[in-house]
Amino acid sequence: MPSNPPHDVLILGSGAAGLTLALQLAADARVAVLAKNRFDDGSTPWAQGGIAAVLDDSDSVADHVADTTDAGADLCDPGAVAWVAERGPRAIHWLERLGMDFTRVGETDAAPLHLTREGGHQARRVAHAADATGRALEDTLLEQARRHPNIELFDQHIAVELITRRRVARMTGHAEAGEDRCLGAYVLDRRARRVRVFRARRTVLATGGAAKVYLYTSNPDTATGDGIAMAWRAGCRVGNMEFIQFHPTCLFEPRAKSFLVSEAVRGEGGRLLLPDGTPFMHRFDERGELAPRDIVARAIDHEIKRLGVDCVFLDISHKPADFIRSHFPNIHQRCLEFGYDMTREPLPVVPAAHYTCGGVVVDRHGRTDLPGLYAVGEATYTGLHGANRLASNSLLECLVFGEAAAAHIRVNPAPAVEAMAIPDWDESQVTDSDEEVVVSHNWHELRQFMWDYVGIVRSVKRLERAKRRVDMLLQEIQDYYSHFRVTNNLIELRNLALVADLIIRSAMARHESRGLHYVIDYPERDPELDHRPTILAPTDPA
Ligand code: FAD
Ligand code: SIN
Repeated sequence: MPSNPPHDVLILGSGAAGLTLALQLAADARVAVLAKNRFDDGSTPWAQGGIAAVLDDSDSVADHVADTTDAGADLCDPGAVAWVAERGPRAIHWLERLGMDFTRVGETDAAPLHLTREGGHQARRVAHAADATGRALEDTLLEQARRHPNIELFDQHIAVELITRRRVARMTGHAEAGEDRCLGAYVLDRRARRVRVFRARRTVLATGGAAKVYLYTSNPDTATGDGIAMAWRAGCRVGNMEFIQFHPTCLFEPRAKSFLVSEAVRGEGGRLLLPDGTPFMHRFDERGELAPRDIVARAIDHEIKRLGVDCVFLDISHKPADFIRSHFPNIHQRCLEFGYDMTREPLPVVPAAHYTCGGVVVDRHGRTDLPGLYAVGEATYTGLHGANRLASNSLLECLVFGEAAAAHIRVNPAPAVEAMAIPDWDESQVTDSDEEVVVSHNWHELRQFMWDYVGIVRSVKRLERAKRRVDMLLQEIQDYYSHFRVTNNLIELRNLALVADLIIRSAMARHESRGLHYVIDYPERDPELDHRPTILAPTDPA
């Protein structure tokens, strides 16, 4: 069976987090970067609003910390918040040096960056490239990575499972020697339709979030929580999985597949209206449209259910048409394709699952519980986001932790990948599936009940109902997995179901309402739970 020559570092994921790490490390190490479809298939190129960092003299790190902590509803790790906020400006300057084309207030490259505003920020603090920041970021990083002789890029390669000493010992029947360690990953080469062994001194999960676990999401199809599920199966803890962020304003248009209308539209004066044109946000929060996302999404959900309507409306048509076209060229164009002219009329909008605030528990260096395994980006729990992520803090976290993990790997040499024989992926007991319908049915069922029972507003009864269903699905999927050859859809479904289980279990464990986790049976925040994240630990790692 094909096995690749060992790499110093194997990075699963080619979004902002994975590519930052690769570029920061490539002068000192031989790096492999994998993407499960195309290299730009993650959430990064979809990002619109921008990257939060303190870049103006009238702003301060203390204010960025205060806003992040306030949005996070007293569940952030204060040390992590300050640490990230302090490193924000450096991350932006690094991108400028790489040539990222940020929007500026003047014509020349020396002109200061234009900073926009988003919900929960008390200052203009968001550096951006018009309304397509993620595309500019992904293109910049990818171009640099493609040029680097020490970076090998593999598209159409989906990691199935991490390879650990413990797993190898179980597979070969040998006694486990020494502490467990990550040795690489089993990876499905989708073109060759074969599972290959990728060996590496260090493996990094940069696999993004899991919002695809919900029926309606702003995320691309790749957001299936693969890294979180693989880490859990390998024995790593996860944190704060109950905190799934719903973005308040996705375009309500079936053909648009949950196209996001950036929060920056509200930041630049957009107002939320009921179908009869009445503004309503001030009834829910004195900050109105610029309240943090959890509050705005819940307010919209409340009004939609109260009035029995399909959507509310986002209106920025009172601003000059030129202003709208120059600030939001992509959103304007995309909405026009669906028949909505935002310079003249309000846009129909609804909330959709957007961001996974929890993930694999890591320290400041991106280290997980498993020696040799790191994690960066949306797949992680770092303590930055608490119970609700502040807008535009995610790309910042990818950049800061990407750099920090690279620095740690650089100065802490790892043992060479041991001679210990890693068995090939065993396909002797499986056949090609003749019932793909099981996979597609389970995908749909899972995402539907997560939306209905574990969504913006939860109840103990609904969570229990979801838990019963996910238990059944997990069993059925495991059975299917042990009989049939792995495919992309099966790998993702297996991971999604596990992540759904982690979300439900974390939600059931939190007996209060805080930030993004609202349960009608426990409507109040419990001060005893301030700064107490939900940490789950696997009991029987594979
Ligand atoms: P991603 O960019 O999602 O990349 C994940 C990578 O992992 C992909 O390359 C994928 O192929 C790979 N991968 C996954 N599983 C496997 C596997 N099993 N094997 C191999 N490879 C795998 N954040 C902000 O801060 N500001 C914004 O303005 C903003 N706007 C957003 C708008 C939208 C519509 C969306 C969806 C998100 C937005 N976010 C924003 C959030 C932000 O874009 C993401 O949190 C961030 O890009 C995540 O980066 P990442 O590198 O962790 O993962
Ligand atoms: C947006 O542009 O509204 C998304 C920003 C984010 O997710 O941080």
